[in-house]
Amino acid sequence: MNEKSVTVSLSGQPHRYRIELGYQRLRAAGDWARACLAPATTRVVVVSNPKVFRLYGETVRESLEKAGFAASVFLMKDGEKHKNLRSHEQLLKFVSERRLTRSDAIVALGGGVVGDLAGFGAAVYLRGIAFLQIPTTLLAMIDSSVGGKTGVNSDFGKNLIGAFHQPHGVLIDVETLRTLPARELTAGFCEAVKHGAIAGRELFDRTARFLETYKIERFRRFFADENFPAALTELLAAQVAFKAAIVMNDEREDLARTDGKSRKILNFGHTLGHALEKVTGYRYFKHGEAVGYGILFAAELAKKLEILGENELKLLNGVMQRVGRLPDLRNIELENVISAFSFDKKNIGRSLQWILLRGIGRPVIVSNDDLPESAIPEVLRKIFAKRFS
Ligand SMILES: NC(=O)c1ccc[n+]([C@@H]2O[C@H](COP(=O)([O-])OP(=O)(O)OC[C@H]3O[C@@H](n4cnc5c(N)ncnc54)[C@H](O)[C@@H]3O)[C@@H](O)[C@H]2O)c1
Ligand SMILES: [Zn+2]
Repeated sequence: MNEKSVTVSLSGQPHRYRIELGYQRLRAAGDWARACLAPATTRVVVVSNPKVFRLYGETVRESLEKAGFAASVFLMKDGEKHKNLRSHEQLLKFVSERRLTRSDAIVALGGGVVGDLAGFGAAVYLRGIAFLQIPTTLLAMIDSSVGGKTGVNSDFGKNLIGAFHQPHGVLIDVETLRTLPARELTAGFCEAVKHGAIAGRELFDRTARFLETYKIERFRRFFADENFPAALTELLAAQVAFKAAIVMNDEREDLARTDGKSRKILNFGHTLGHALEKVTGYRYFKHGEAVGYGILFAAELAKKLEILGENELKLLNGVMQRVGRLPDLRNIELENVISAFSFDKKNIGRSLQWILLRGIGRPVIVSNDDLPESAIPEVLRKIFAKRFS
């Protein structure tokens, strides 16, 4: 059996839960849910969207029913723009109409959008009920389903309304990645490279080796290879273990912390990433793709400031060549990106901070005030000149 599990121990509630990984595990989702939840749990609401539910929903629902749960299904519309307060309210209405009690649970089946909305619903309904995650995108598996951040977007900004609410369990079935669109896969692998870059050579090399062995262009076809599900499970388990370790060390992202193990370092590649998403109205890039450019940029900036060596920059650029194509930067004005940085600055109420690298696995937080003024535009120009088209 190619099964793995990562245990997350926290000070909040629940104190401890497991992230289970493996191949073809959805059929046993009911037994898994039974093991995660209190014996008194009778009702569950599965939150998903039509696209994911069509692929995997009935398998999960049947399995939950077989394990003795009364399972009903709430489908939100697909897409980031529906991760909002309106959908949140609709979910709460649905859950209360189904008469879920404090001992019942919400199960998220889908990507990060579904997970964030479902988790936030579970966080506030009756002041918090149990929550399970079955992530079905690479990004949700290695990133958004780990760490307990839940929430929705609003007119005030992305992800600004939310709560920390840890799940009672996470079930990752790597087989669901077989149907994931190519761009979503690339976006997820950008976050995987990000984790490798800040974690250290072990995770970095493991991720790079995987991408070398299993070329992303042929990802789906590898499911026919008997070693592939185990290799994928192992990579994802290592990725999840890294994120879980950071979260356990800094559960609520302590703002005062600036050390190399704080939750903040997970924002490596995200300063430019967010700016690119913002100047393109959140419509052009998948979040992970924008982070992909952010990684290339942060590494180049670190090299320019002479804190990262040439060889490690090459290693990072090398692995980024294997994550798949990033959308080109042709129609994006460099000046707009620079203005977006200053918006970010206003938003956080203090000077912009850059997460840079001294080496693979050696992240460092640098204040924008400590950089020579010309550094950002110069490096940005260099990244834009490559354009990756
Ligand atoms: N909570 C956190 O800590 C955290 C961390 C990172 C990102 N996020 C959030 O996650 C969201 C992005 O998540 P995402 O990248 O998973 O996007 P997503 O949830 O929008 O999913 C991407 C697309 O893939 C489809 N899909 C999902 N699983 C599929 C499958 N197995 N086969 C085929 N199609 C499938 C979805 O329907 C959607 O169209 C953002 O809202 C972001 O803010 C949260
Ligand atoms: Zn991200």
